[in-house]
Amino acid sequence: MTTYYSEELIQSVIEANDIVDVASGYMTLKRVGNSFKGKCPFHNEKTASFTVSREKQLYHCFGCGAGGNVITFIMEMEKLPFVDALKFLAARVNMILPEKSNQQEDHQVYEKKKRLYELHREAANYYYKMLKTSKLAREYLLQRGISQETIRAFGLGYASEDWGRLTDFLNTKGFSTADMLDSGLVMASENKRHYDRFRSRVMFPIVNPRGQIVGFGGRLMATDQNGPKYLNSPETTIFSKSYELYNLNHCKNFLDDGRIVIVEGYMDVISLYEKGIKNTVAALGTAFTPFHGKILERYAGEVVIAFDGDNAGKSATEKAMKILKNTSLNVKILSLPTNEDPDSFVQRYGQQGFKDAVSKALTIVEYELELLKGHNDLSQTDGRLRYGNEAIKILRQLETSVEVDYYSKMVAGETGINQEVIRREVLRSKTRAENPSPLVEITRDAVLLQKIPKAYQKAQELAIRYCLERPETINEFPMDYLTEPFYKDLLLTLFEKRKAGEKIEVNQIMSHFDASEDVKKIVEFMMNEDEVSRSDYQDALEIMNRFYNEAQLDKLSEQIKRESANGNDDAVAGLTNQLIEIKKMMKENGRH
Ligand code: GTP
Ligand code: MN
Repeated sequence: MTTYYSEELIQSVIEANDIVDVASGYMTLKRVGNSFKGKCPFHNEKTASFTVSREKQLYHCFGCGAGGNVITFIMEMEKLPFVDALKFLAARVNMILPEKSNQQEDHQVYEKKKRLYELHREAANYYYKMLKTSKLAREYLLQRGISQETIRAFGLGYASEDWGRLTDFLNTKGFSTADMLDSGLVMASENKRHYDRFRSRVMFPIVNPRGQIVGFGGRLMATDQNGPKYLNSPETTIFSKSYELYNLNHCKNFLDDGRIVIVEGYMDVISLYEKGIKNTVAALGTAFTPFHGKILERYAGEVVIAFDGDNAGKSATEKAMKILKNTSLNVKILSLPTNEDPDSFVQRYGQQGFKDAVSKALTIVEYELELLKGHNDLSQTDGRLRYGNEAIKILRQLETSVEVDYYSKMVAGETGINQEVIRREVLRSKTRAENPSPLVEITRDAVLLQKIPKAYQKAQELAIRYCLERPETINEFPMDYLTEPFYKDLLLTLFEKRKAGEKIEVNQIMSHFDASEDVKKIVEFMMNEDEVSRSDYQDALEIMNRFYNEAQLDKLSEQIKRESANGNDDAVAGLTNQLIEIKKMMKENGRH
């Protein structure tokens, strides 16, 4: 919910307006047990099913499903938008909201940004036109294998060697000096003379997913020129390197199976695009940030890190891997030969060559095992032992016992160590490292459930209620069991707040959610008077677990049928092992 007001301020308005008092101004409420009841003001009814809780500061109608906190109550009653309802309530208790100045400031920022977007659009057009006049720049791009069509798709341009041509151009377009300087495209010298930041460079406009140009990268064409090879726009009101991803604007329209390939450089993106591979993005400059991870989560299910094959690329891969491990993304790594980057690789091996490499990209565990293998001589006993011990540490990050089983077998084959020994070591250290007593084996993907059975839905809601009532248990909640994005958002909001050490006010968390359906659902959870005990909660998790496992069994049986029809005996054997493993696990869980 976008407002001009901080959460603290909103919370203080809520706290100053007791919901029972406020609602009593509109209707007759009678005390019944712990709550107050009355005839719902939002629909016609004979019996009183409208309930207000003083303790929870929420209302809920069991008849029509209306529900919310004191702010939504006023929004509905007085037909006011959020901000006006907030002002209404503030006025009711003589609180003063610092409204005007903030709104004005906001408006000014908005206008400023609008002008900067316009300025960047004009600059991009200018650079694009300049490219037509520069034979040198056109030949440079041609020699790098970039077609006219791709130049147009990326709006590539050219900044000439002159010091003030863009500045002059922007002047004729009527932009103020302040805006020019704030855009970062124009600089001021010590004696206050203005000049262009980008000179003698091929220009790459950076476009955000909304199609707005927010900055530029510029590349020198010859190595004997002065200055860094690439120069980027500085951080501005509309551009931050930690947020933007180059080519996300195109990429989001070409999500190949929900997969995005992350590369290091502008030219990697462009060269791959030229060869028909369009689902790529690049971080700008060297650093890949957690924000980038969050943004990618919005668009993709899987990311493939395809950085340069040199040492710098390898260490950048390590860093990006660490960040991406903390997202819900499925992460793969494509390691290129030492002297290649995606650009050179696709030039050499073509579209199919690159696609094959992507499809053979390694999982994080496989990649880490490969690295480890590089450091140990597996033809020697001590090398094999060291490798085995280190590998066990890597396998601890695996989430399902099926995976643990699979990789234990692999490492067993490589080292000659007994598979069962490896498996047990991995599981032993896993439980020691994690929660002292995991409730059930969690971290599965509930999305696997095609149709969500009623019993699953019931169990899920019960578990969520338990967690809402006891936010301190949020850390142990199996997020992967949640079937609806809204549930995930809700619990992640709780989780983030708890992590940040903030007090958790469920009443207030509602202001994070825009859709009134979502708010109603939260209230429904909160107003449910049935106590959820710890053992109810554990039962609910077990129910979810069972459904998940059954869905997985169905999927495996289908795959087994398909593979055996194809006569693919190896696959059948592998899948059958997985099936047996799951059945064994279910039996064990059933015994508890
Ligand atoms: P080409 O040499 O044109 O093929 O570029 P590339 O895309 O292969 O770039 P490279 O692998 O050298 O670097 C990857 C990315 O790092 C570039 O796309 C730039 O974003 C950034 N970068 C490289 N060199 C510099 C530099 O000198 N300064 C800055 N700020 N960024 C750079
Ligand atoms: Mn390159």
